[in-house]
Amino acid sequence: MNPPVLLRARGLTKAYGAQTVLHPADFTVAEGEVRALVGANGAGKSTLMKILSGAIEPSGGQVELHGEPAPLGRPTEMLHRGIACIYQHSNLVPEMSVLDNLVLGRVPTRAFGVVDRRRMRAEARTLLTRHGVELDLDAPVGVLPTVKRKEVEILRALALEARVLLMDEPTGWLSVADVARLHATIRGLRSRGVGIVYTSHLLDEVFAVCDSVTVMRDGRIVADAPIGSLDRAGLIRLMVGETLAGATRAAAPTAPAELAAPRGAPRLRCNGLSRRGEFQAIDLEVHAGEIVCITGLVGAGRTELVRALFGAAPPDAGTLELDGRATTIGSPREAIAHGIGFVTEDRHRDGLLLNLGVAENLILATLRRHCRAGLLLAARVRAAARRWIAALNLQPPDPDRPVRLLSGGNQQKVLLGKWLALRPRVLILDEPTVGVDVGAKAEIYATLRAERARGTAILVVSSDLEEVLAIADRILVMNRGRIVSTRPGPGTGVADLVREFGGVA
Ligand SMILES: Nc1ncnc2c1ncn2[C@@H]1O[C@H](COP(=O)(O)OP(=O)(O)OP(=O)(O)O)[C@@H](O)[C@H]1O
Ligand SMILES: [Mg+2]
Repeated sequence: MNPPVLLRARGLTKAYGAQTVLHPADFTVAEGEVRALVGANGAGKSTLMKILSGAIEPSGGQVELHGEPAPLGRPTEMLHRGIACIYQHSNLVPEMSVLDNLVLGRVPTRAFGVVDRRRMRAEARTLLTRHGVELDLDAPVGVLPTVKRKEVEILRALALEARVLLMDEPTGWLSVADVARLHATIRGLRSRGVGIVYTSHLLDEVFAVCDSVTVMRDGRIVADAPIGSLDRAGLIRLMVGETLAGATRAAAPTAPAELAAPRGAPRLRCNGLSRRGEFQAIDLEVHAGEIVCITGLVGAGRTELVRALFGAAPPDAGTLELDGRATTIGSPREAIAHGIGFVTEDRHRDGLLLNLGVAENLILATLRRHCRAGLLLAARVRAAARRWIAALNLQPPDPDRPVRLLSGGNQQKVLLGKWLALRPRVLILDEPTVGVDVGAKAEIYATLRAERARGTAILVVSSDLEEVLAIADRILVMNRGRIVSTRPGPGTGVADLVREFGGVA
C-alpha cells in the first residue's frame, strides 16, 4: 500500500505581470517521502517552494494538507498546519542563543505572561534527545558552524511538529562531512514519517538522499519519477531538455588539457602569511594564466586566507608580492586598485545591491570607466551590461531587472560578471558556483578558462571536488589553518584529496 499523501497541490500557477513563471503544477508529498525538486536556474523551484510555504500567493490553484484546503499566502498559518521551510539563507537571529531561536515565536508563558524558561529548556532538551542532535542551548547561534545552524533550523521546524519540511538548497555552503550529517538527519526524519521536499543542484546528493524526483523546466513540471528509474545523464536530459543535453555534457568533470607550465615571476605570492586562530605560515603562488584551487573542509581557514589576501582582514605576519614586488594590502579598496577582484561566497551580504538593476550591479565596480565629467553614460552602461548578460547567459536577459527578482543562480552570475567586468589581474573566487545549475556551471568554468587564457591569475576556494578537479591547474588542500598538500590538478582524483582533508579542530 502506498503511504498516505501529506500534501497535494493542484494546478498551481504564478505570474508576475505578463510573465508566467509557474504553469499549472501538480505535486504531492507522501508520509516519509524525500522528494527532490530539480531544474536549471530560474526553472521555478523556489517559486513553487515559496507557494507551498505560504511566503507568496499563487495566481491560481489549490493545496491540500491532509485532505484539507491549505491557507495559501499565509506563512504563519501554514507553519501551524505543519509545513515548515528552510531556506539557504538562514533566518535565525545570530545574537540570540540556540534556546531562544528554537522557541522563537512560541514562548511558553506562565500565568500573567511570565516567560517560563525552565519549561522552555526542558522542552528543548527533549527535542534534542528525541532527534539525537547535540547542541549547546546557551551558545549564541552566530558562533555555530553552518551545519549546526541548519540543525537549529530543522529542530525549530520540528518543535512546531512540522509534517512537511521544505528545504531550498540547504547544503549550499556545507562541506562534504557536514552534508553527510545533514543527510543522516533527513533519513531520521523520513523514518518518522516526515515528508521532505529538497532542492539541490548537486545531483549526487539527489541520488544519495531522495526517493523521488520532480523535474522543472521553464516554469513547468516536466517529470515526476522514482529516483531509481533514472540515472544521472537521464536526469540532466530532463532538466535541460533533449536538444540541449549535448551542450551540458561539458559539465562532467574534465581535466584541463591545454596546460603549459607557469612562467616568470608569480603574479601573486605570499610567504609565511598568518592570522592568529585562522591560518598559519601560508606560502602560496599564483601565476598569470593559472588557476589555483584551495580546497578542504569548511572551517579549515580558506575563506579567512583569501579575505586577508584581499585586504578585508589584515594578516598578523607574513609578506605579499605582486609581480615580484613587495606590497601591502590594507583594505579591499587597495586590493581593487592593485587589480585584484574578489567574488565572495555570500552574495547577499557582500556582493550585490539587491534593489538595483542588473546593469547597475554589473558595472558597479567599473563605474569610473562609464563616467564623463562625473556623469554616468547610461547608454554605455547598458551596452557593457548587455555584453556580460550574453557572455554569462543571464536569464532573463534584462539589464533593468532588479537583482532581487532574479533566481539564486542568476544572482551568482551577476556577481561573477561584476568582477570580470573589472578585468582584474588577480581574480579570487570563494565558492563561485554555489546555487548554480549544472549547465551554468559549465559556462562559468568556460568563462574562467577564458580569463586564464587572457593571463589572469585565478585563485578559487571550493568545497566542490568535481569543480576543483575540473578547473584547477594546481590544488592546495588546507586543514586546520595550514596548507597540507599541493598537487597538480590533472591526474589527481577525489580520493587523493579527501584523504588529506582531516578533521576540523
Ligand atoms: N518577484 C518576482 N518578480 C518577477 N519575476 C520573478 C520574481 N521572483 C522570481 N521571478 C522569476 O521567476 C523565475 C523562477 O525563479 P525561481 O527563483 O523560482 O527559480 P529557481 O528554479 O529557484 O532557480 P535557482 O536554481 O537559480 O534558484 C525566474 O525567471 C525569476 O526571474
Ligand atoms: Mg531557487
